[in-house]
Amino acid sequence: MTRHILLTGGCGFIGSNFVRFVLRERPGYRVTNLDALTYSGNPENLADIEADSALRDRYRFVKGDIRDADLVQKLMGECNALVHMAAESHVDRSILDARPFVETNVLGTQTLLDGIRRLKHAGKLAGDFRGVHVSTDEVYGSLPLDRPELKFTEETPICGNSPYAASKAASDLLVQAYHHTFGLPLCITRCSNNFGPYQFPEKVIPLFVTNLIEGRKVPLYGDGLNVRDWLHVEDHCEAVLTVLEKGVPGEVYNIGGNNERNNKELTHSILKAMGKPPEMIQPVTDRLGHDRRYAIDPRKLETKLGWRPTRSAWPQALEATVRWYVENPQWWQRVKSGAYRQYYEQQYGRR
Ligand code: NAD
Ligand code: TYD
Repeated sequence: MTRHILLTGGCGFIGSNFVRFVLRERPGYRVTNLDALTYSGNPENLADIEADSALRDRYRFVKGDIRDADLVQKLMGECNALVHMAAESHVDRSILDARPFVETNVLGTQTLLDGIRRLKHAGKLAGDFRGVHVSTDEVYGSLPLDRPELKFTEETPICGNSPYAASKAASDLLVQAYHHTFGLPLCITRCSNNFGPYQFPEKVIPLFVTNLIEGRKVPLYGDGLNVRDWLHVEDHCEAVLTVLEKGVPGEVYNIGGNNERNNKELTHSILKAMGKPPEMIQPVTDRLGHDRRYAIDPRKLETKLGWRPTRSAWPQALEATVRWYVENPQWWQRVKSGAYRQYYEQQYGRR
């Protein structure tokens, strides 16, 4: 079966890796990327795809907002699959101002779902339509450090602690409601922390690596003992595609790397990969409400759909990611300086 995927948020970190992954792995597929180009949306992430004449027929970028009901409905009517990644995604920003998180993650997701519902009602939704809502392990809340046997399963109750996590949890509930009430064939994926190329340098790994290249210290929150489960972004992309192609509508699938590290361990691994001394660590005040530990039980996806991570093994995968930032200073320097914000107008003119 061929697919024309409407991807939301394709100019972000995971979205841009997903475009590249799908075009490479599924020669029959096409992708329409709907992205509003917020601060974390960077069309330079896909400059190589846009410049590739062999791929141009299979990829289209549309600048637009998932809260634009008419646009969403028009684009959805041209596609037969949805991968919904557009979101406000950074916990620290949600602590400073939760409103954009509610506007995009909650209201935006509801607008998207309503567009699909209307198309279905009008008999204009593709008969073979399938969709995936890309969510996060953060909707499950926090696990204690002294119970290493505990992991999040798909049955773990929702308990989003940060405004970001709460807004993603709300979007998950809306997706489930539209499946239950209107029969929309949608799955939800909940993934652990991603790492890899093109991650906006506000998230811990690219922030620390680029700070160190610039000779600056790295701000480690609190006691540094908070644990995250790290998965390479391409493993995440493969898992999302697997769920799109083989998932049972209405089901939730956890995605994780069985790769738990605390932040101190992560920071020392980055320092080692870059040949930097421990004195470059700057302990700073802890994040408000900082979740202690995330850990995913990915067995449902592994046993039911046959997915397994193959690109996430440490330290090699982390070292390769560090190398990518070291070897691509033009990418992150343009992000940190804000120059990437001009790229769209230079390429497409003012719209
Ligand atoms: P990102 O911040 O790098 O990218 C988000 C993209 O969405 C940007 O391109 C932005 O322009 C776009 N966007 C934001 N608001 C929009 C709107 N209203 N309309 C259209 N486009 C809009 O985020 P990311 O890290 O790539 O995360 C992608 C998705 O994966 C998110 O839904 C996030 O919750 C989820 N997720 C991320 C991680 C992670 O570790 N980064 C882990 C699990 C799940
Ligand atoms: P982050 O990359 O923001 O992802 P998330 O909050 O979604 O897990 O942070 C990962 C971990 O790193 C988290 O425990 C907070 C910590 N952290 C720091 O110690 N210093 C920093 O400057 C940042 C951004 C994060």
